[in-house]
Amino acid sequence: MSELAKRPERLQYSFSKHFACADGPLFLILSDVERWPGNLQPRLLSSNGETELIVAFRDNSRATIRFAKLAGGVNRVTVEHEASATENSAGAAAGFDYEIFWFELFEMLSARLMPGKVAIATAPGKVNLFFKVGPLLETGYHDVASLYLAVDLRETVTAQIATEYSVQVTGSLGDFQLLSVPTDESNLVVKVAEQVKAAAGTPAAIKLVLGIDKHVPVAGGMGGGSADAAAALVAVNDLLGANLGPERLHEMAAELGSDVPFALAGGAAIGVGRGEQLTALESVAPIHLVLIFDDHGLSTPAVYRRLDELRAARQEQVQSPEVSREFIGALQKSNAFDLAEVMHNDLEEAALSLRPDLQIKMTTALQHGALRAMVSGSGPTILALAASEAAATQIARSMNELGYKAIATHGPAAPTELVD
Ligand code: C5P
Repeated sequence: MSELAKRPERLQYSFSKHFACADGPLFLILSDVERWPGNLQPRLLSSNGETELIVAFRDNSRATIRFAKLAGGVNRVTVEHEASATENSAGAAAGFDYEIFWFELFEMLSARLMPGKVAIATAPGKVNLFFKVGPLLETGYHDVASLYLAVDLRETVTAQIATEYSVQVTGSLGDFQLLSVPTDESNLVVKVAEQVKAAAGTPAAIKLVLGIDKHVPVAGGMGGGSADAAAALVAVNDLLGANLGPERLHEMAAELGSDVPFALAGGAAIGVGRGEQLTALESVAPIHLVLIFDDHGLSTPAVYRRLDELRAARQEQVQSPEVSREFIGALQKSNAFDLAEVMHNDLEEAALSLRPDLQIKMTTALQHGALRAMVSGSGPTILALAASEAAATQIARSMNELGYKAIATHGPAAPTELVD
């Protein structure tokens, strides 16, 4: 189970587990509380008949069980159970222990539903708080120097064995964005699966069903596609038992795209070369941000091309890029006001030249309390730096009230990781 959080005064069991099986039987078995294992005498307090159950136990503690359908026929079951410490010690004295109870309940579900094997990984989206673009190289890439920050907005990829490839996409993005994700073999996650298969020596006839649960905007300048590739690498490595170690995964990630190694690594890092050569920065204090989304993506190659055109037009001598000392100093001081002064993105000028309307969002975010507003990567997502978590929540609320689509988030966020 992915998370088991306990607080001293309240015992709080909060975890989720994924089942690759039909949702109907899953809900029916869970609703039938009288046949649950153990002697907790559960009572069903409420059910919406589809996605949520609230159950009370003999000691009057309550648990909420929720279902979410993910792509690829995978269901996520989330349990939140809160009991006071005294309730639980009374419970323990009476011969039951919640930890064991929930474990047994999920074992029973697995035994009765016989779900297929599924591997699941989540990967973070990113912003670049500092981004210098050097000259265009013969490889077709630009030399860059960037400060990547992984944010707590994650993609989830599920992988199961099948006889044909299929890619299924769900998520919190609008239909317009979700429908723009290819579901055929051109999707990067299929390329990932083929590469892991080759590395593992898996027979060619074995194909995969890949589900992508998307929350990072498509072509948004936040590395959403790269996060999908990173999550697919880790999930398929697990599913096929390929045993690829961190170094091999990093190499494969770099071949897949410039931002994929960082999506694997998460946290905060300086990226040079194409962006794939990383130096992790440890102990970066939480940075609170607001992301302001856009319905229409921007093509990364088009933004780089526009930057080259703008630079050529003014005959700019393009310098070899590096992350400035001032920026690193401000990051290490963990002071958002200092950081606001030194954040920078060379791609911003090009993104604004293609999408001048983005300027309005930046100005509006500043008017509503952002310390700095900037284009994220190649755009069109705007990132606004906030002084605190509360400030980020307030700025996001104000932007949403004005009709923009904004969320408060923070970084550094966890690397690509397997989930139960
Ligand atoms: O590496 P990735 O496939 O994500 O890059 C997409 C495109 O972005 C490249 O084809 C290139 O046009 C541009 N790019 C670049 N310099 C970089 C990274 C990406 O010009 N360092």
